[in-house]
Amino acid sequence: MKKAFLSITAAVVLGLASLSAQAEPITVKFSHVVAENTPKGLMANKFRDLVAADPALKDKVVVEVFPNSQLFDDDKVMDAMLLGDVQIAAPSLSKFQKYNPQLLIYDLPFLFKDIAAVDRFQQSEDGQTLLTSMKDKGYIGLGYLHNGMKQLSANKPLKTPEDAKGLKFRIQTSDVLAAQFEAVGGVPVKKPFSEVFTLMQTKAIDGSENPWSNIYSKKFHEVQSDITESDHGVLDYMVITSSEFWDGLDEDVRTALKKDMDEAVTYGNEMSVKKADEDKQAIIDSKRSTVYTLTAEERQKWVDAMKPVWDKFKDTIGADLIDKALKANE
Ligand code: LMR
Repeated sequence: MKKAFLSITAAVVLGLASLSAQAEPITVKFSHVVAENTPKGLMANKFRDLVAADPALKDKVVVEVFPNSQLFDDDKVMDAMLLGDVQIAAPSLSKFQKYNPQLLIYDLPFLFKDIAAVDRFQQSEDGQTLLTSMKDKGYIGLGYLHNGMKQLSANKPLKTPEDAKGLKFRIQTSDVLAAQFEAVGGVPVKKPFSEVFTLMQTKAIDGSENPWSNIYSKKFHEVQSDITESDHGVLDYMVITSSEFWDGLDEDVRTALKKDMDEAVTYGNEMSVKKADEDKQAIIDSKRSTVYTLTAEERQKWVDAMKPVWDKFKDTIGADLIDKALKANE
């Protein structure tokens, strides 16, 4: 009798324990390196809020966002994801060379004429295939997010490629970007985003390339006297997660999370257009930095100097893929 009572009690305790284990929501940590008032920051917060309001995910998933490299820099976040220390990140497309060098396509200077062309390529079959191209390394791309076209900055006006000669430019971890600055006689220095302001302030670097929202939100315009509106390349993101985490989710949870992510990305993309305009204007209005618009002849000189970089990476990226990306300009 006593034995039966004990085993019933044990069963009840175990049952309650497993019930409470089931009730524990999954925490999804979303780590990124930029400020909250940027396309990526706004997208991440939107995703968190959509998940919180989603009846399909109520009590099942909680998203925590860590902006400003609070949790990881981009060079650490990929490993952290495989270890399960973070579930979602959205590194710039320039940071995936080690995982799939074909993604270097996005760094080729003067390949895309504008963000609409970038978008067309991303949404094409080839662009979508790139999203799932790192599965064997343990990563799944959930979508692309825009930031915008990049502008050049330094402590002197950069009107022609000769102006860049001998200057140290901070770059992201991409060999195409290194080759791009070498092509104009610059010295590329690979450094994490979190260090850029200090590197500029202490003059450890002379210049950099960034979209308007990164320049403004990180106050780079306060430590760079000149910005050239060059639109010479793109800085966009891939939202990624680990295959182990993603495939391990219940199907209904995965479907709901993907829906919320798609909605957040659409919102982030709308914001990217708005932020690019607003932040450029705010930089001009601040008068901390002079924004220079290239003449058509000056721009052509940058194109002529930088475009030979394509040839160097043609075999790595694939000439076919480059041709298809070019078609997105039409
Ligand atoms: C950079 O390192 O410059 C960018 O990747 C930062 C970002 O996420 O926009």
